[in-house]
Amino acid sequence: MNESRICIALDFKTKSDVENFLKQFEGESLYVKVGMELFYGEGIEIIKMIKEMGHKIFLDLKLHDIPNTVKSAMRQLAKLDVDMVNVHASGGIEMMKAAIEGLEEGKTSGKRPLCIAVTCLTSLDQDVLDNQLLIHEPLENVVLKWAENAKAAGLDGVVCSPLESKIIHDHLGKEFLTVTPGIRLASDNVNDQKRVTTPAMAKELTSSYIVVGRTITGSQDPLATYKKVYQDFQGE
Ligand code: C5P
Repeated sequence: MNESRICIALDFKTKSDVENFLKQFEGESLYVKVGMELFYGEGIEIIKMIKEMGHKIFLDLKLHDIPNTVKSAMRQLAKLDVDMVNVHASGGIEMMKAAIEGLEEGKTSGKRPLCIAVTCLTSLDQDVLDNQLLIHEPLENVVLKWAENAKAAGLDGVVCSPLESKIIHDHLGKEFLTVTPGIRLASDNVNDQKRVTTPAMAKELTSSYIVVGRTITGSQDPLATYKKVYQDFQGE
């Protein structure tokens, strides 16, 4: 198998839930996403445990603060030797540059963690942009401009919908990573995701990485479901 580009969202509450879940994947090299709930609840012990199991980690903490604070925080996160971290693009170019500087300063190996930017949260829509944030531009333009800013700041890519992936790659090059949640198998319940895409469609739409949570974590047979997702997204 090639290196996995499927980030399994470990949206669990405790370290033992994660441990029990990951036990089912013995022998597999996974890429997993640790979010705020798990990290704030379990701290760096959860990172250590997952690294000892040999998996890659996307630490999804979405930093957003003044540049100096983001830089110092990223210096600390880099010391955890995770593989990917993120910031909000709405913090601006200077903040994103500071994130990269912090990662470079804190890195423990030759390579800093990848750093990607959240553009517009999928919970925002045009109405919120217009009437709460007073951004009177079509949402698509905002996503593209903030992705451009992320690239200008030296970031490696963005979190976005698979449906936005192609236009971002067309404008910013295919090396600029698109990390895309909102993935479901055709047989799944959609839950609370509004616009969903299958792994095969995400491949077609040029997603660099897909983030998959409940489709795998809530499955009767997580390993078999992971293999199906892998085959559809990364299979030849
Ligand atoms: O279970 P599901 O596949 O919907 O999980 C998707 C993961 O991606 C969750 O951890 C969720 O917080 C995250 N995410 C998302 N939509 C975004 C950004 C992140 O679903 N726009």
